[in-house]
Amino acid sequence: MSDENALERFRPETRAIMAGRHPARYDGAVNPPVHRASTLILAKVDDLYGERVQTYGLEGMAVHEALKEALSAIEGGAAVALAPSGLMACTLPLLALARPGGEVLVSDSVYAPTRRFCDRMLSQLGVATRYYDPCIGAGISDFIHAETLALFMESPGSLTFEIQDIPAMAKAASSRGVVTIIDNTWSAGLYFQPFAHGVDFSVQALTKYQGGHADLLAGAVLARTPQLGARIAATVRELGVGVSPDDAYLALRGIRDMHARLSLQSASALRIATWLEARPEVGRVLHPALPSHPGHALWKRDFSGASGLFGLVLAPTTEARLTSMLECLEVLSMGFSWGGYESLIIPCDPQLTRTAAPWRADGPLLRLSIGLEHADDLISDLEQAFEHLRP
Ligand SMILES: Cc1ncc(COP(=O)(O)O)c(C=O)c1O
Repeated sequence: MSDENALERFRPETRAIMAGRHPARYDGAVNPPVHRASTLILAKVDDLYGERVQTYGLEGMAVHEALKEALSAIEGGAAVALAPSGLMACTLPLLALARPGGEVLVSDSVYAPTRRFCDRMLSQLGVATRYYDPCIGAGISDFIHAETLALFMESPGSLTFEIQDIPAMAKAASSRGVVTIIDNTWSAGLYFQPFAHGVDFSVQALTKYQGGHADLLAGAVLARTPQLGARIAATVRELGVGVSPDDAYLALRGIRDMHARLSLQSASALRIATWLEARPEVGRVLHPALPSHPGHALWKRDFSGASGLFGLVLAPTTEARLTSMLECLEVLSMGFSWGGYESLIIPCDPQLTRTAAPWRADGPLLRLSIGLEHADDLISDLEQAFEHLRP
C-alpha cells in the first residue's frame, strides 16, 4: 500500500500490517530494502546544496521512512523521528524544548534514566526539573508557571504502575501553553492513543514490544503537529542522531506481528496477575486491568488493552529468601528490559528514586514482563519459586 490516508478506515492492527509497504518501488518485494548508505551520489550541481532531494544517508533511507510510516499509522501524529534507543527518544523532546531558566515537570514514577537525564544534563543546560505525584491529575495546574516548558508523563509508571489522568493533565498544560510529552512504551502505541487526548509528543522505546526479541535498541518520537515534528527534526539534525538501517528493519519487522504477540502476552499477564492476587506470598498486584488497581477506572476509560508488564509487592520477607526465590526460577529469568518473547523478572526497590510521592510498600517490589511461554508453565515456575519464601 502507499496512500497513508487511505489506511484511516482500518483498525490499528491492520494499519500496522499495511503501512509503509511500497512493493511497486522494490521489484515487488513485500519489505523495503536495507540500504547501508552514508554517501548518496547526486547528478546535478543544483541538488548538492538544495533542499529538494536527499543528500546524505543520515537523513534516513527507504527502511527508515517505512518504519516511520508504520509507527504513525498505529499511533497517529503528523511526524516521526527515530532514535538509537528508547532513552534517547525520551530525552530528545526535552532537549528540543530546553531553554535556560526554564523548568520541566516530570512524573515521580518516570523511568530512572529519564530522571537522571533531567537531573544532570537538563540542569547543566540551566533547566530545572520539578517532580510531581503521578496521581496528581488536573492538580498539575498548580505546578505550572511562566517558566514551565514541558510536562513529561509516563502511564503507567514502568516500575510502580500508576495510571495518570492524561486527558486532564494535557488539558491543564495546553491551556497554559506547556508542551506535553508521554512515554507511551507500555501500550506500544496500540492500547493508548495520546494524540486523541491532546498530548504533543509520544515516545516509544522500540526496544520493547516493537522489537519483541531482545535483540534491538531503538526509539521513536511521534509529534502531534508538523510544527512540533519540525522542532524534533531540527534537534535530530543538530545532534547528528541516526539509526542503523538494520535496526530500523528489525523494528519494522517486529511491528508487523506485534499485535499478535501482545495479545498473547496481555492475556497471559492478566491470568498470571489474577493467580498472583490469590497467593499468600503476595501482598498486592500492580496490574491496571485488575479491578483492585487504584488506577483501574482511568485505565478502563482511556486504554483499549494492557500489555504484558506489571508489578507485585510481596508479603514481607527476608533478602535471603527473596534471593533464593529469584535464583531458582527456571522459565522466568532476571533481566532489565521488557517486551520480548522471553519472560523476565526483576526486584525493583533499589531502582526507586522518588522525591515527590514516596513509594510505600510492606514488602519487596518485583516487576514481571510476560513473554510467549505457556502461562501454565510460568505459573508453575512461580509456584515452585514461592516455596523458597517459606519461613
Ligand atoms: C518506560 C521506558 N521508557 C524508555 C526506556 C528506554 O528504552 P531503551 O532501553 O531502548 O533505551 C525503557 C527501558 O527500559 C523503559 O522501561
